[in-house]
Amino acid sequence: MNALVVDDIGLLVTCEPTLGEGPLGLVRDAALVVEDGLVAGIEPSGAAGDERLDAGGRCVIPGFVDSHTHLVFAGDRAEEFAARMAGRPYAASGIRVTTAATRAAGEDELRALARARRDEALRAGITHLEIKSGYGLEPEAERRSCAVAAELTDDVTFLGAHAVPPEYDGRADEYVELVCGEMLAACRPYARWIDVFCEEGAFDAEQSRVVLEAGRAAGLGLRVHGNQLGYGPGVRLAVELAAASVDHCTYLTDDDIEALAASDTVATFLPATDFSTRQPYPDARRAIDAGVEVAIATNCNPGSSYTTSMAFCIALAVRDLRMTPEEALLAATRGGARALRRDDVGRLAPGARADAAILDAPSYAHLVYRPGVPLVATTLAGGRVRPEAIRPGSPTV
Ligand code: NIG
Repeated sequence: MNALVVDDIGLLVTCEPTLGEGPLGLVRDAALVVEDGLVAGIEPSGAAGDERLDAGGRCVIPGFVDSHTHLVFAGDRAEEFAARMAGRPYAASGIRVTTAATRAAGEDELRALARARRDEALRAGITHLEIKSGYGLEPEAERRSCAVAAELTDDVTFLGAHAVPPEYDGRADEYVELVCGEMLAACRPYARWIDVFCEEGAFDAEQSRVVLEAGRAAGLGLRVHGNQLGYGPGVRLAVELAAASVDHCTYLTDDDIEALAASDTVATFLPATDFSTRQPYPDARRAIDAGVEVAIATNCNPGSSYTTSMAFCIALAVRDLRMTPEEALLAATRGGARALRRDDVGRLAPGARADAAILDAPSYAHLVYRPGVPLVATTLAGGRVRPEAIRPGSPTV
C-alpha cells in the first residue's frame, strides 16, 4: 500500500480534541500519513512514506465541510444584488428569476456550471459539500438538478419546496402536492435529504410539515430553511421532526434556542447571506452559550450569497457573530459534518477521509486576521492533490 506523507506541518489542526491540544486538537511539527485516501496516522515531522508532500512549515486544517449550497443553477442576479445594496430589501421572489434561467438550461450546461463552482469551492479548501436542487420547481428540471448534483456529492438535497413557481400562483397547496408526489418520486433516486423553505412568502408551517413528512416516508433525512427573514416556526418544526439541521437561524427567540439546545438538530448559520442581504447577523454567541450545536456554511447561491469562500464566512462568524476563531473553524469543519450526520469528514483522525487544506499561513487564525486573502495553497481531497484545486506555485507532489 502506497503511503503519502504530508510532512513538515508547522501546525496541524485535527479538529479531534483527543489527538492534541485544546478544542481543535492541535499538533505541532507533525506529519500526516495517508493511505488509501484515508488518514492512517499522525506522526512527528520527518515520517517515512512512499511519496512526500512538503507543507513547508505551514498550517494544515481539515478540508471545510460546506453543509448548505445551491450550486446547480443558471443565470445571474448581479443587478438584483446592486439594487439591494442601493436599498431594496431582499425578497424570496428573486428565486423565480433563477428558476426561469435554470429551466431553460440543458443538463450539459447545468453540469458545466455546477462543476465550475465545485472546483472554485475546492480551491477555497471545501472538500465536501451538500448540494440542493430548488431552481427547477417542476419534476423534470428538479430531477435534472438532482442528477447533476449527484455527480458531485453524495449529499444531495431535494428542495422542490424552495418557492411556489409562477404557474402555481395562488395554488400553493396544489404545488405542495406536486412536490410530495411526482417531483419527489423523480428526485428520490439521487437524494439523501429533503429540505423546505419555511418562511413567510414561501411555505407555511403546515405546508412545510407535509413536505418533510413525505420526504421522511420516502426515506430521506430532513433539513429546514428557517428563521431567515423574520421570527417564525421553522426552528421549532425542525426540532419537532428531528431534522439534522435548521439553516439560517438569523432570528431566534429564547424558546427557539432552548428547543435547539435540548435537541440533536444543528443550527447552521449562513453569515455571508446576512452580509449579502444587509440583514442583521444571528446571535450565535447566545446560541453557543446555551449549548446549541452549530455549523457555518456558505449557502452559495445566485441570490442571497454568491460565494464559495468558507474563509470569508469564518471571518464574518468571528467578527459579527462573535464566535471565537476556534469555534468558527470547528463550525466550518466538524459542525458541517454533524449537520450532515457524518463523521468521515471534518476532522483529521485515523480512519477519516484524508481531506485537508494547506494554508499559506502559520496558523488558522490568519483565516480571520487576513480577511479576503485566498490563503488555501493546496487542497487534498480523498488523499489526492486535486489538479483543479492547485494554485500556481503551491506545494504539490
Ligand atoms: O438560502 N432562502 C432561500 N433560499 C436561498 C436563496 C435563494 C435565492 O435568493 O435564490 C437562501 O438564501
